[in-house]
Amino acid sequence: MSEETQKTIVSAWNEWDPLKHVIVGRADGTMVQAPEIAVQREWTDYGFPQGKYGPYPEEMTQKAVEQMDNFAAILEKRGIRVDRPTLLDFTQTVQTPDWVQESMFGCMPPRDLLLTVGNEMLEATMSYRSRWYEYLCYRPLLEKYFKEDPNFLFGSAPKPRLTEESYKKDWWKIWNSLSEEEKWQKVEEVDWLPTEKEPLFDAADVIRCGKDIFVQKSMVTNDAGIDWLQRHYPNHRVHKVWYKEHTPWHMDTTIVPLRAGLVLFNPVRTPLQKKQYELFEKNDWEIIEAPATVLDKKRPMTFCSIWLNMNLLVLDPKTVCVEASEKPVMELLDKHGFDVVPVPFYEVSPFGGGLHCATADVYREGELEDYFPNQVEGF
Ligand code: ARG
Repeated sequence: MSEETQKTIVSAWNEWDPLKHVIVGRADGTMVQAPEIAVQREWTDYGFPQGKYGPYPEEMTQKAVEQMDNFAAILEKRGIRVDRPTLLDFTQTVQTPDWVQESMFGCMPPRDLLLTVGNEMLEATMSYRSRWYEYLCYRPLLEKYFKEDPNFLFGSAPKPRLTEESYKKDWWKIWNSLSEEEKWQKVEEVDWLPTEKEPLFDAADVIRCGKDIFVQKSMVTNDAGIDWLQRHYPNHRVHKVWYKEHTPWHMDTTIVPLRAGLVLFNPVRTPLQKKQYELFEKNDWEIIEAPATVLDKKRPMTFCSIWLNMNLLVLDPKTVCVEASEKPVMELLDKHGFDVVPVPFYEVSPFGGGLHCATADVYREGELEDYFPNQVEGF
């Protein structure tokens, strides 16, 4: 039925143009992944002491699947075409000539993996071994788009080797031994896990604002990855950004553009790349701060922060999907003239994020525009 709603056109230049076609991920079969250099899970109270891996508890998965199906139905009812990825057996051991990894992860958050800029969808390199093959879940869709849209650029960033040389030695061990003060020192130094051996980035460390693209240096994105993106998009201005945050990964709970001229900032993760403020101010963007979440603590077995309240999906410059219990965010957006669509989604948090994470844009109606004609020297 969705086919009639919107024929296949791949195009999106920013985070807020009218959304016509989107991919919504799936929570089925998600794993607490087997340990690897980049990831160690520890949820002893829920049967996953460090080193133990396996599927998330069936009951949790079921609730997440229901909320995701409901979200997809809400979007479809609004005339947005929704596609879903193809599941793989995420319990399987995967390997390359360089390594063996005892499990995959899942495919709840397509945002982490797929970056749509203009008529190209780009598969990010990813930087976890457990997520190295996750792109296969989206291949049936991308192959279909390739057949149906003659202008679609089917892109893939160079697959990384992810040998030990891609990660700083004993990074986690050192981090865990630091005092609070020393940790903030490391934040100032932007000294994260990946080395500069090869380009690495996750698509969710990228925020698109027309000609300007912000990329966060993080636990999953290195300087080489950001450099690769700038070379890949020669007609864009790629800005490297970093924030006051412990072990950052993915930017969509840090800054969230709502429409041209309005951006939601995380009030505690202030930009350490100060020129970012300057850029927004020089171009008359209004910066508003996200209110605190209504939750008093994280959901069980959740590796995301409590800032998923600001992980919202903009449907068009007047309409935005927000987690259904997050009244303070809704009130703020209402005050700024948005119609808010409440979507119950907190059962999905443990599977890798919120409404923005759970989606990847295929088509947003609109053209490439310059929202920052006044640039800042050296940024
Ligand atoms: N590090 C972010 C937080 O926990 C992750 C948000 C998840 N985003 C995503 N695209 N999976 O606040």
